[in-house]
Amino acid sequence: MQRAAVQRVLLHPLAKPLVFVVWLLPFAWLFYAAAADALGANPAEALIRSLGDWTLRALVLVLLVTPLRVQLGLPALARFRRMLGVYVFFYATLHWLAYVAFDMGFVWADVVADIPKRPFILVGTAAWLLLLALAATSFNRAIRALGAARWQALHRSVYAIVGLALLHFFWMRAGKHNFTEVGVYAAIFAVLLGWRLWRRLMPQGSRVSSRI
Ligand code: HEM
Repeated sequence: MQRAAVQRVLLHPLAKPLVFVVWLLPFAWLFYAAAADALGANPAEALIRSLGDWTLRALVLVLLVTPLRVQLGLPALARFRRMLGVYVFFYATLHWLAYVAFDMGFVWADVVADIPKRPFILVGTAAWLLLLALAATSFNRAIRALGAARWQALHRSVYAIVGLALLHFFWMRAGKHNFTEVGVYAAIFAVLLGWRLWRRLMPQGSRVSSRI
């Protein structure tokens, strides 16, 4: 397909609602599977882990938008970035809520006590708090109030989020010495963030369109 045709598809009024619905499907499926008791022998663990996986997948996708937009010359892709970013926060929050509900039984004192006890919970919580800050400032009014420069600086914390999320996943899998998936995600994130650093270091790199 020609680039102009792809642009037209991306600009179609139904494109955004479609992406919105597609990214709601994992949640709908997990909700249905939980209600239908189809999550296997340990449904709570399956739910927590699945939601963690979807958080990472959404994070990959949102970081893919800018490289694809720039490299393929498809400015219309920018329309999807904010929604995908909010989906990262949405799945991270469901992941955290599932942990609070099923692992901690909504006992907040236990939730707080678990943070210093288990390093992978500590870094997961730090990643979630940073996501919360990004989600809270993702609206037009917040962007205007912060000013473009401060908003962009804040959104650079996505580098820290990626590092913390990978560390969380690595520590969680360390008990079983199962690092294959962690390695795959680390390689994908290295390419996506490496591309951004490379562009920022390039003398002719256009800063205008290089938002995180
Ligand atoms: C950006 C934020 C986060 C990301 C990307 C993330 C991602 C993940 C991933 C990928 C897994 C492993 C899934 C698998 O094995 O297939 C996981 C497991 C887990 N995460 Fe997170 N997580 C985040 C934040 C949190 C937070 C805030 C908490 C709780 C405070 C948390 C608690 C857990 C727990 C309890 C498990 C499962 C451990 C087990 O079954 O042994 N995560 N997370």
